[in-house]
Amino acid sequence: MLKINGDLKERIAAAGQLHVLQYFDELDDAGQETLLSQLADIDWEALPELAEQYVLHRPETVIPEDLSPAEYYRLDDGDNFDLYSDADELGKELIASGKVCCLTVAGGQGTRLGFDAPKGTYPIGPVTDRSLFEYFAGSIRRLGKKYGVVIPWYIMTSPINRAATEKFFREKKFFGLAESDVFFFTQGTMPAFDLDGKLILSAKDSLALAPDGHGGTLLALRRSGALDKMVRDGSEYVSYFQVDNPLVDVISPRFAGLLALQKAEVGAIVLSKTGPFEKLGNFCVSNGRTQIIEYSDLPDVLAERRNDDGSLQFSAGSPAIHVFARSFIERLTAGNSLKLPWHRADKKIPFLNECGDTVTPDAPNGVKLESFIFDALPMAEKVVLLEGDRAKIFAPTKNISGVDSVESCRRMISERNASRLAAAGVIMPYNEDGVLDAVIEIDPALVADDEDAFEFAGEIGLCRILPGQKVVL
Ligand code: UTP
Repeated sequence: MLKINGDLKERIAAAGQLHVLQYFDELDDAGQETLLSQLADIDWEALPELAEQYVLHRPETVIPEDLSPAEYYRLDDGDNFDLYSDADELGKELIASGKVCCLTVAGGQGTRLGFDAPKGTYPIGPVTDRSLFEYFAGSIRRLGKKYGVVIPWYIMTSPINRAATEKFFREKKFFGLAESDVFFFTQGTMPAFDLDGKLILSAKDSLALAPDGHGGTLLALRRSGALDKMVRDGSEYVSYFQVDNPLVDVISPRFAGLLALQKAEVGAIVLSKTGPFEKLGNFCVSNGRTQIIEYSDLPDVLAERRNDDGSLQFSAGSPAIHVFARSFIERLTAGNSLKLPWHRADKKIPFLNECGDTVTPDAPNGVKLESFIFDALPMAEKVVLLEGDRAKIFAPTKNISGVDSVESCRRMISERNASRLAAAGVIMPYNEDGVLDAVIEIDPALVADDEDAFEFAGEIGLCRILPGQKVVL
């Protein structure tokens, strides 16, 4: 039987959360150890204020009076031709000199997808079922080969999916990457609250813990030693993307180059919104600082405000693709702490009933708190925003079907492959409505960008794809 340290018990009591020890004496040593290690990680002094501010009350997002739409570099803007050429060139140099690494955030729970294993293991390939992780690994391998360099890859997991993620990589032999070039690190967790501000036990020996949001990335990079490794490796820029978007350029030379040219601390890719209420965060400026206002927080009147030519004023949406200067992450996390605001999400959280059994509720019964990476944007001295081509770089896999789904993502993978091959002169089976009548998968380790696709189609002597064909190249 382990003993609970008196000081810890007092702190828990002072926070009004003694119920978490309700079953402590019934637990075996392993159970007690599990619970104690979770309790030791909690900032008990901060807890009452958190519960008050975010659980017992609903924090309202304050929209600053001076809020205006953020300016961004437009796609294929003729006026910026020279700037973009310089950025392309510098970006390629940065990659070739080993100054850019990749970072995938893969610690989320993927609840909407309803897939038990880590989301990155999801079989997304439209013909071969290759996983999301394999898409990124293949592209990283391809870029490494193309630029003659090792590109370190940082993967953020949560304590919940770390072991399963690493196991998957071992089983797949790291998709041909060197094991030493893939660095897994683990984000922090936050305990969930019930609606009265009490912490929820999910089992007698465990709090209901959830990953602390992608905002946890920056501090986790420091705490895990990833930042130190970046310094050792000479990685100066971090290309950040989410695990559910296999179309992303794992590194965009233009984007990285533009950030460096403009001496910005953070870069963000912008998508031109399809309508006022598209579910993308909105890039805005207030008090000279760039910030993202979530789609749910932007007042309708602002979302619908239009320019004289009819275009939306708040047209810049965020697909969560960034480049960070390493020095920015170092600056923000100096002192081993970083305070980002919390965001509340009401969720169905398994809890212990009066009999001590774990029950999953049918309706939201509690609150999870998460921090978001984009809340770091206003802390940057300079932010650079660059528009991306949606059809080429953004196919989020949030749901099984419908909008932002496995279905739409697979279709977009095929369509991007088709348009790349068509640009290389391959005849494609589009029907009279312009819809592609084929499923086309290309190995990401062979083709990472338009340029590669062009060369590849020539090398294999591909002339046409037939209607209804399912092709793996
Ligand atoms: P989402 O906000 O889409 O969350 O994460 P999710 O957990 O994947 O899916 P739902 O909302 O439960 O259905 C966007 C990206 O941020 C990562 C996810 O893995 C995904 O790449 N993320 C999210 C983390 O790494 N940690 C977190 O705590 C939350």
